[in-house]
Amino acid sequence: MPKVPIRRLLEGQTAIVTGASSGIGKAIAIELGKAGANVVVNYVSGPDKAEEVVASIEGEGSHAVAARADVSNEAEVQAMFAQAKAEFGTVDILVNNAGLQVDAPFADMTLAQWQKVIDVNLTGQFLCSREAVREFKARGVKPEVSCAAGKIICISSVHEVIPWAGHVNYATSKGGVMLMMKSIAQEVAPWRIRVNSIAPGAIRTPINTAAWDTPEHYAELLKLIPYKRIGEPNEIGRAAAWLASDDADYIHGITLFVDGGMTLYPGFETGG
Ligand code: BGC
Repeated sequence: MPKVPIRRLLEGQTAIVTGASSGIGKAIAIELGKAGANVVVNYVSGPDKAEEVVASIEGEGSHAVAARADVSNEAEVQAMFAQAKAEFGTVDILVNNAGLQVDAPFADMTLAQWQKVIDVNLTGQFLCSREAVREFKARGVKPEVSCAAGKIICISSVHEVIPWAGHVNYATSKGGVMLMMKSIAQEVAPWRIRVNSIAPGAIRTPINTAAWDTPEHYAELLKLIPYKRIGEPNEIGRAAAWLASDDADYIHGITLFVDGGMTLYPGFETGG
């Protein structure tokens, strides 16, 4: 990792990070905290893990609070935004991170397996983004805080463009996130609301342990990554802190791939 000191680019701003008690969401919450933001650490189960993230952010000198909500539940999402506003006054940044995989061969995939992934990964991002846009529009730009009235970052995946056999529900949800993000971005830009995605490749988290937990699996994984290493969660966190900051103010409606080149068709290194 680069040894660049973190600037407190998000001082005075409040961020909600969904699915922030583990994996990529946890790293994003911690990096936004290091950048000076107040952080709402959303989780759906395991309050202890969320409280650990809160303690870590507070240890770095920023404020944080844990908020339980199932992002696919409209009332719970609205309650989480109300809690954030009661605690910190407003919300400036939403990171739509909560997501899961429920893998199955396509012919065996149940409707429940399909629906669960679409509900959390796609509908959850819709519900949270809608609440965020309502808040950003109602408040407007506060130039002393940020050039923008608000920022939304959708955590997508390389699988918004790479088809994924055995994971049809997951790839479908991420493809949906891509056009949802761009369509919201087009609609809300006049209110100075910035909307973008980050598409991680293979990042060392619990969601994909089977891809890196043995030397053999890791060697197979590296065939898919031109840069020849797995990514670490804080590499997504640092990208999110920068993308949410005014340093990225003219960046709107794009997907930032953070994937060591996974989307470069690595099979063509030697083939074709
Ligand atoms: C998935 C991981 C996978 C990675 C690269 C992510 O979106 O959640 O399981 O390792 O994409 O394929």
